[in-house]
Amino acid sequence: MAAEIRQAVAAGIIVEIESMTELTRVASAGEELGLIPQVAVRVNPDFAVKGSGMRMGGGPQQFGIDAEVVPDVLSAAAGLGVDVLGFHIFAGSQNLNAEIIAEAQRRTVDLVTELAVHLPGELRYINLGGGFGIPYTEKDQPLDLDAVAANLHDLVEVITSRFPQAKPVIELGRYIVGECGVYVTQVVDRKISRGRTFLVVDGGMHHQLAASGNFGQAIRRNYPLVVGNRVDEAADESANVVGCLCTPLDLLGDDVALPPADIDDLIVIFQQGAYGLTASPTAFLGHPAPAEVLV
Ligand SMILES: Cc1ncc(COP(=O)(O)O)c(C=O)c1O
Repeated sequence: MAAEIRQAVAAGIIVEIESMTELTRVASAGEELGLIPQVAVRVNPDFAVKGSGMRMGGGPQQFGIDAEVVPDVLSAAAGLGVDVLGFHIFAGSQNLNAEIIAEAQRRTVDLVTELAVHLPGELRYINLGGGFGIPYTEKDQPLDLDAVAANLHDLVEVITSRFPQAKPVIELGRYIVGECGVYVTQVVDRKISRGRTFLVVDGGMHHQLAASGNFGQAIRRNYPLVVGNRVDEAADESANVVGCLCTPLDLLGDDVALPPADIDDLIVIFQQGAYGLTASPTAFLGHPAPAEVLV
């Protein structure tokens, strides 16, 4: 940790601090290197965002510094030889409602405006976080990006008028890469248990935790999946697609309409480009890691 912080400080990277401890670590790195570290404070806002798959701010949180404590942290920072450029607020991930995202971003700018008076200098950095959602099921409506963009356009004008030196940043994750990835796994067994068909595959939640519904879903829903080598065939069978781990959590498709599939067929799951392999418990049962192919 200390080595990574030193590297970041030496490279002049803005280090976003999430606690007083992190602030002191960055300050020590600056002292050792004879440099003034550039930092931003990640703030746990005093508001929460509805409709997000995962809440990342509001209420008690492991992320960021509670908004009401930030003035004290800034006072401490003033005596520690660090340069606080601004703030980062990220309220929630996987939101498909443009108006809620817009409202969260407006509230973020308002909160930053309140906090900026406690900075010793000008506000130079404002990170509005990520959170733009992507559709995972047929019921999901894609995000109205034009509405988000129109709001951001207005907000950038507000930011520029209030803080002429501030650089606004958004930090998107899944919106950029989520839809680019597919996960392919092969059927190794087909079983009927008391009338229900199970397709057992050679992959599972150790490769794609999110597809099993155990990452960011309050209610488990199937990700879009097809039998890759039977896409032209009628989906007239209902099956459960299960992984090869020793837990019922390892469920990739619950009661999915599929063409009758068998051993060696390929199950293809879409929307897998974000929070995939690296967000999964790959060591569970010690199965080999899948190939990741960039095309
Ligand atoms: C600090 C931070 N920024 C950005 C992101 C990306 O979020 P999203 O995929 O919702 O855009 C995350 C995701 O957890 C995050 O923790």
